[in-house]
Amino acid sequence: MIAYVLYSALAGLAFLAFLLYLRNPYFLKDLNYTVTAIKIAMQLRKFKKQKPFYSILDRFLDKVARHPQKKFILFEDSSYTYSQADKESNRVARALSTHAKLKEGDTVALFLGNEPQFVWVWLALTKLGCTASLLNYNIRSKSLLHCFSCCEAKVLVAGADLRDAVEEVLPTLNQQGVRVFILSEECDGEGIESLSDKVQQASDQPLSPELRANINIKSPALYIYTSGTTGLPKAAVINHERLWLASFLQAVSGVRSDDIIYIYLPLYHSAGFLMGLCGAIDKGLTIVLRRKFSASQFWNDCRKYNVTVIQYIGEIMRYLCNAPKRDNDRDHKVRLALGNGIRADIWADFLQRFGDIRICECYGATEGNIGFVNYVGKVGAIGREHFLHKMGCPYALIRYDTEKEEPVRNSKGFCIEVPRGETGLLVAKIGERTPFSGYAKNKQQTEKKKLRDVFVKGDFYFNSGDLLKIDNEGFVFFQDRIGDTFRWKGENVATTEVADHLLMVDCVEEANVYGVKVPGHEGRIGMASLKLKENMDFDGKTTYQHVKNYLPSYARPRFIRIQDALVVTGTFKQMKGKLAEDGFNPAVIKDPLFYLEDNKGYVPMTQEIFNSIAEGRVRL
Ligand SMILES: *[C@@H]1O[C@H](CO)[C@@H](O)[C@H](O)[C@H]1NC(C)=O
Ligand SMILES: *[C@@H]1O[C@H](CO)[C@@H](O)[C@H](O)[C@H]1NC(C)=O
Repeated sequence: MIAYVLYSALAGLAFLAFLLYLRNPYFLKDLNYTVTAIKIAMQLRKFKKQKPFYSILDRFLDKVARHPQKKFILFEDSSYTYSQADKESNRVARALSTHAKLKEGDTVALFLGNEPQFVWVWLALTKLGCTASLLNYNIRSKSLLHCFSCCEAKVLVAGADLRDAVEEVLPTLNQQGVRVFILSEECDGEGIESLSDKVQQASDQPLSPELRANINIKSPALYIYTSGTTGLPKAAVINHERLWLASFLQAVSGVRSDDIIYIYLPLYHSAGFLMGLCGAIDKGLTIVLRRKFSASQFWNDCRKYNVTVIQYIGEIMRYLCNAPKRDNDRDHKVRLALGNGIRADIWADFLQRFGDIRICECYGATEGNIGFVNYVGKVGAIGREHFLHKMGCPYALIRYDTEKEEPVRNSKGFCIEVPRGETGLLVAKIGERTPFSGYAKNKQQTEKKKLRDVFVKGDFYFNSGDLLKIDNEGFVFFQDRIGDTFRWKGENVATTEVADHLLMVDCVEEANVYGVKVPGHEGRIGMASLKLKENMDFDGKTTYQHVKNYLPSYARPRFIRIQDALVVTGTFKQMKGKLAEDGFNPAVIKDPLFYLEDNKGYVPMTQEIFNSIAEGRVRL
């Protein structure tokens, strides 16, 4: 009898589980994510409550105490243990404290490539209670000065290899009373001082936590410049709480403390610094640091250092898949890739070619207050909706007018949430738990990212600038950036979607799609800049067949420009603004141009065609 009851109960439970599974095949993964999310929320609460609060530096020091001899950073042919890193940063902190008179609350600009000293200087600044402003080492002159003044840094620490760039702006910096230090042994010159010799002479004894006693979890930890594809960079304020949240992404993605992570993305940006470096410190990992991405060295490095976790952004995955195939493509220990922006076609290619690697797509902006994680590994999705998430951070996809470049509002003046399956602009409520710190010394840009009176009078939302779609199963898909999406013949054209189709054409290696203005026409017409595969010509016929089969007529690129290399930002984002400005005039553009002639296909662009379009003799 008892056996029967038990049996029935078990069968009932099994049936219930089965029903749950039928309703949601991702049930277990959702559950697992729920548990992880709750754990992390509790952890953050604990960090906040502790007095003084528990910072990423405290985590680092705990790891130093726990495993001083564990390798922290492997770089080229050198390696540094946790203990060595701690001591090195003590020296830097003491040198800066003595010679630059740094104190709690000061801001210091770091102008340095991906190298261990970057980490030492940052740790040193954190030990002194200072805020680090991470400058993009590719910028020069006016932009450099602009970034510098955004954060009002008192001191600049620059790499020896960037001395020329510093000297170019030195008079202005000196005028502003900025102390300039170069990471070299000696450095003669007015208004510029060497730092490495001072570091070597300094003691490596620990610094007193008293030095940073007034820093709290809301204090700015970093300034990170958003790599705007247009205009001057903006300095996003990253406070310690935000830093923790970004660091937790590794834990959410399933990174373990015995993993070895490969960091080649620039440390001046949030992917490399927050998700990569800080996440690695949180888990106490070994980091393989590389100056720059190299498609040819990528897997060799992974093999050489036994890398188990890699980071990516979409373009990188494409570069890796485009590299010539090798016999040892699957010979590596990489088990997990985390990042953002991998397109569905490359995702499939990548797995097929490089083996069973779990890909964890994460979505989030440096300055944003919202993120998603695709923790179930659904190909093509940037994340998955989760009820806890929505509770903690109310967000919505709202209808957006691409022509007027603003959200659509109803008769009462409020925004309209799009139905499931439709594309909308992601906005996230700004509140106590989901703050938006904005940009340093830039009220105007900060206000621009805030949307008010969204659903009720007086509410505030963060405008992500991204057009997303959420399907019936709750998967989130990236559609386009606003500004990238353009309108032609009253229809929205998502540039990423068109680019995905062009990339399916055999001769195309990379594609950048944008809209260009045509005299006498409203909106913008589609144009694509293509990089072709090695030793291949532009195959106009196949391209035409493909776009004709897969894209509605308004979305087909009317003009094609062939370039030897597509221009990208320091973080590999494609630049569209300049190309759109260049337009399609063969008298101006020296690259080969093609024109899509109705019912005919792509033909070489001529001055005659251009003139007849410009004079309105040909209607597009
Ligand atoms: C749950 O998630 C964690 C972190 O992502 C992962 O390490 C673990 O393997 C998962 N467990 C199951 C049963 O999926
Ligand atoms: C990588 O792993 C292999 C085998 O597990 C080991 O022999 C080798 O020393 C490791 N290499 C490094 C750089 O740790």
